[in-house]
Amino acid sequence: MLMYESALKEMETRVKVLSDEFHVLHKYNPIEHIKTRIKSPESICKKLAKKGYEVNSKNLIEQLDDIAGIRIICSFIPDIYNIVSMIENSPDINVLCKKDYIASPKESGYSSYHLIVSVPVNFSSGTVDVKVEIQIRTMAMDFWASLEHKIKYKYSSVVPEGISTELKECSKMINVLDRRMSLLGSNLIEELEQDLAQNKDIIDNSTIEKTLISSSSCMIMK
Ligand code: GTP
Ligand code: MG
Repeated sequence: MLMYESALKEMETRVKVLSDEFHVLHKYNPIEHIKTRIKSPESICKKLAKKGYEVNSKNLIEQLDDIAGIRIICSFIPDIYNIVSMIENSPDINVLCKKDYIASPKESGYSSYHLIVSVPVNFSSGTVDVKVEIQIRTMAMDFWASLEHKIKYKYSSVVPEGISTELKECSKMINVLDRRMSLLGSNLIEELEQDLAQNKDIIDNSTIEKTLISSSSCMIMK
């Protein structure tokens, strides 16, 4: 599990650095919070058995993509896509799979953006590429997913039709709310950018910081 715990630490740090960079460039923080978790041994065994695989370390590494999981909770929908492209543009993070459940929500009503990435982790014996599942969603999407999970968990076998329909209705309401809030968010960002243009001191600081960031990216490129 050390491999997955280290990959999570690595990924969490990288996301925080991307968020700090975004903050410097755009003067606001797109990330509300980050949660990480390692799949429990019990869930690992259950999932391998469900997929028809024997429980051994080879199958665990090759067949499961979500042993290490990181959830990034953003403020507004566009922030999610910004974070996705920042991750995609990170030179040593390899994106293995993308699922946009925001553009196409799941049958349950669930929406989020999922990525499976591999991230290099350095050990004294060498570097290992480790898979991490990243879920990126807004606070509203997270609210729905957490409560839906709790409600469905109560019905360990089949969820009554009425409950599923009600949950889907709630997800549509959440979606409308998210889009309205994102619209307010884009107005706020426009205002921030106008303020930025009017305030020379801030511009000067920002320019210095931008220059530092772009020169450090040049150093990385070299
Ligand atoms: P899993 O076998 O669940 O891993 O599905 P998958 O491999 O097809 O991946 P998918 O991207 O669909 O879902 C992975 C994870 O997203 C799940 O483990 C949940 O954390 C979350 N998720 C997916 N669907 C739902 C849903 O309908 N409700 C909630 N609350 N979470 C979901
Ligand atoms: Mg999965």
